[in-house]
Amino acid sequence: MKFFIDTANLDQIKEAQELGVLDGVTTNPSLMAKEGITGKENIINHYKKICDIVTGDVSAEVISTDFENIVKEGEELAALHDQIVVKVPMIKEGVKAIKYFSDKGIRTNCTLVFSVGQALLAAKAGATYVSPFLGRLDDISTNGLNLIEEIRLVYDNYGYETQILAASIRHTMHVIDCAKIGADVMTGPLSSIEGLLNHPLTDIGLEKFLADYKKGNE
Ligand code: E4P
Repeated sequence: MKFFIDTANLDQIKEAQELGVLDGVTTNPSLMAKEGITGKENIINHYKKICDIVTGDVSAEVISTDFENIVKEGEELAALHDQIVVKVPMIKEGVKAIKYFSDKGIRTNCTLVFSVGQALLAAKAGATYVSPFLGRLDDISTNGLNLIEEIRLVYDNYGYETQILAASIRHTMHVIDCAKIGADVMTGPLSSIEGLLNHPLTDIGLEKFLADYKKGNE
């Protein structure tokens, strides 16, 4: 399972990269705004900085909603760095653009996916990644994990190569559950990754090992 971090915060991206288990980064316009990154030039420079920190894929989202401009924006983003994956919303014009990008060999992440039908369309259009937002479904009392399970079934039925990128991960259990049901990738906050480290028996065990060592070596 690939681990992506879902942030535009450079310190957190560095911290995740240093842990040695990071496979990529996802961003979106809200995450960029949260870091105070505004204006085309600053946004582009920020993507470049992220690409310099990580070795894996970096999703950069278009803000256009019509085919011509999605294509123009996406081609500009893709030209920034070979790690860039163009993030395109699940709308009619977006599906057309994903097909166009796929034919041109430009990698895409189809975002804002909330149904199996949308995921099927993204795969048929040739998306590299499909991003079902499981946390946002959970927020409206709909089981987000079920959606990922259903997409896995449909993709496996037909051998689609589009990778299921479980997005809107909120906590560590989401990561574990996504791994159990076969999501190819998860993207979440640093806390959801670091939470995997924790077990009280590890802490108790280490404390005892160190205390016993100290006793025997005083
Ligand atoms: C996906 O790529 C999105 O950036 C993200 O996972 C959205 O998560 P949120 O629901 O926590 O905003």
